[in-house]
This record gives sequence, C-alpha cells and structure tokens, in this order.
Amino acid sequence: MVAIADLLHGKRTGKPVELKGWIYRTRTMGGKAFVVLRDATGILQVTVAKDAVPPEAFAAVEKALIESSVIVKGTVVADKRAPGGFEVRATDVHVVHFAEKYPLQEDPGEEFLLDVRHLWVRSQKLTTMFRIRDATFHAVHGYFRDQGFWEVSPPMITPAGSEGGSTLFELDYFGKKAYLTQSWQLYAEALVLAMEKIYYIGPSFRAEKSRTTRHLTEYWHAEMEQAWVGMDEVLKHAEGVISHACQVVAEERPDDVVAMGRTPEFLKAVKPPFERITYDDAVQLLHAKGMEFEWGKDLRTLEERALTEGKTKPVIVTHYPRVSQAFYKARDPVKPDLVLGFDVIAGDGVGEVVGGSERETDLEVIKKSLLEQGEDPRSYDWYLDSRRYGSVQHAGFGMGMERLIQWICKLDHIRDAVPFPRTPARFAP
Ligand code: 4AD
Ligand code: MG
Repeated sequence: MVAIADLLHGKRTGKPVELKGWIYRTRTMGGKAFVVLRDATGILQVTVAKDAVPPEAFAAVEKALIESSVIVKGTVVADKRAPGGFEVRATDVHVVHFAEKYPLQEDPGEEFLLDVRHLWVRSQKLTTMFRIRDATFHAVHGYFRDQGFWEVSPPMITPAGSEGGSTLFELDYFGKKAYLTQSWQLYAEALVLAMEKIYYIGPSFRAEKSRTTRHLTEYWHAEMEQAWVGMDEVLKHAEGVISHACQVVAEERPDDVVAMGRTPEFLKAVKPPFERITYDDAVQLLHAKGMEFEWGKDLRTLEERALTEGKTKPVIVTHYPRVSQAFYKARDPVKPDLVLGFDVIAGDGVGEVVGGSERETDLEVIKKSLLEQGEDPRSYDWYLDSRRYGSVQHAGFGMGMERLIQWICKLDHIRDAVPFPRTPARFAP
C-alpha cells in the first residue's frame, strides 16, 4: 500500500501500486469512470476503463457513491490533464464499503458544516490543516526539547484559576467546586523550582462568551517556564519557537502551505528578531494613526490589527500597565505602574498568539495584588510557597496553538485550526 502524496511526487511513475482510500469525486463517461481518490495525504485521480478491469469491478465503481471506501490496483502515469499531474490507471478495484448518499452537498453553509463536523473533517481544507497542525505540534515540542526544556504535565482539574475568575469553567467535584484549567501557570511556578526549564502542550479552558474569530472555549496551550532568567530571555524563546514552527511547516509541508493560501517563502522569512515596541510606544502609534485609545486599556482586536498592519512578522509589545494584568506578573522596577509582561501579536486579524511575563517574586506584593483583584490569598497558599522556599527570578509564556496555526494557515476563523471546535455556541459533535 502506498500514500497518495508519494505518487504525486513522481517517485512511482510507471510502477504498479495498490491504494486504499475513499471516493472524493466520481463521474462516468464513455466506458470510463474517473474517480478522485482521497487518503490522509491528498487526492489523486484514478481512471477505471471498462475493458481494463473485471466486469464486476467496473459495475461496482459505477454504483459507488462518494465517500465509499475502495482498494485500487493500477499503474501510475504522468498526465498533465489530471489534477496534480499524475493519475492511476486501474487494473482492479474493490469497493470495501458502499457509502450511503453523502449529506454534504455544494454550498452547505457554515452552520451545517459545523453540525456535520464529524464528516467535514474529511474535507481537503481540514485534512490539509491537520497535516500542518501536526507539523506545528512536532515543531514546538522539538524546539523546547532542543533547548533543554523538560516536558512536565500539570493537572487539568484545579481548585483555583490564574487568569481571572470570569473565564473559569466550574465543575462539581464530588460536592466541591473545582475548575478546568485556564493555564498551567500556578503549577509551572511550583515545578520550575524543581526542574528549572519546563514546557508542556495541553488543553486550556476559557468560559469566554466572546464570539470572535479568535476565541475558543477549549484550546491547546503551549506553555514554558524558566528559572534564573527574566523577560528578555523568555522573549527570545517566544520568537524562537514561532520562527522554528514556521521553518518546519515551510520545509515539511510546502504544498499544504500553498493550498492554505500562504507561501513557504513567507513562513521562511519569519526569523528573529521580531519588531519590539513598548505599550507606551504602541499607544503613541495608535494615536498617530488617528485612533482613540485610552492608556491603561488592554489592546483589542482593532488595535492589534492597527499595530500589525503591513507587517509580515509578528510584533512584540512589552511593559503593559499593571492595572488589569494577572497578579503573578512582575512589576517593572523602573516604572512600578508597568509589568515586565509582553504579548506577541500576529497579523491577519489573529492578534495575540503569545502572552507572557517575568514573575513577581515578592510574597507581600503578590498577596496585595490578589486582594486588589478580589481573590483570597489563602486559596493560593500552596502556590505562595514558591515565594517562601528558595524563590528565584523566573519567567514564562503561553502560546495559543490554534492562534499560531490560524496565522500560519491564514484561516479566517480559529475554529478551523482544530478538529472539533468548542465555542460558546456549541460543544457537539
Ligand atoms: O494571555 P493568556 O491568558 O496567558 C496565560 O494564560 C499565561 N498564564 C500563560 C503563561 O504565561 N504561561 O493566554 C496565553 C495565550 C494567548 O496569548 C492566546 O494565544 C491563547 O493563550 N489564548 C486563547 N486561544 C484561543 N482561545 C482563547 N479563548 C484563548 N485565550 C487565550
Ligand atoms: Mg493574554
């Protein structure tokens, strides 16, 4: 058995092959069936001539509807008329399963496609994205491993949040309140004092009602934390991991990148350093563009769009105002109303792909911030032990994998960066 992608690169031309797959399109014309076959790696035309296969095989092919599963034997030939430049001339076809009439028709509409997501995952749009997503995950793991980070797993069921109470998913834990994790934040800060350079990729949950093109309620979060370093060092890793993912995807999946509407060259040019501006600079830039924006507010999609306009690499914004920032972010020693925090902002409407900071090490300052944010420091007592026993400078960040994939694949909506999207409006199928 061979993969379709292998045939499309001409490696098997003239040779006999056996293919297993599903009928993507089919039509019969003048004693010939033209079947476009789909497998995990791509699509390929199979020509079944009536006189080249056993009569029962031809009859079965004529009868088989799209998404029927088939095994094809034949010879690969180069043919400019075939999509992709190659086709297989069948010598035998076996229909493994005759599919019922497939419910996906032309122009089905977005909502319907979400209803039948379990079938729509077979589409070229999604299978292409899956292959890029796979390469992106491998690249992120590869980057951190190469840089000497340990992969450590935090829990998903937690007693308290780290990113603000309003977006916590509550859970009945045998009569007690528990929450689905928003971030590994608190655990990372405990683990970093054990393992020093750590990362993980896992799901995060946000009960975010905002129906935007870049929010999911369940997303995959790549997070890192490092001891003995400050903001600048982890910023280099943020640039490094994004760049590495772009290089790997461009190198390993050039055809898929093109199918998604990007070019490998675009991705290859995503190399450090990225442009870096402070929040204060960003506010000035926005004002210079004639936009109204009040100092202290968080940057919204609108502002992030303006800051990345015409940019081909993501832009880093540092030193955000302390108000409205998470309690664990370190104060800027020079301007204590700012934090040593940063976001990495991507263009094309994707916005913040990475959020991170140096962490506050002063126990009393953290307690005060918790109180200011209406939290009870006693709920965080175990976490605060990280500031009681051998506290050291440390910093880290979180990267939304779907945001990164959305940007790499130039997707209009983040839901197409994940197989089964979870949004405020739906959690099925
Ligand atoms: O900026 P956030 O909230 O930061 C944290 O959770 C930190 N504790 C991370 C850390 O320092 N370890 O989230 C980090 C990233 C964002 O930059 C964004 O890319 C992604 O997670 N993200 C989402 N992605 C999809 N849907 C959502 N609702 C998201 N919320 C955050
Ligand atoms: Mg953020």
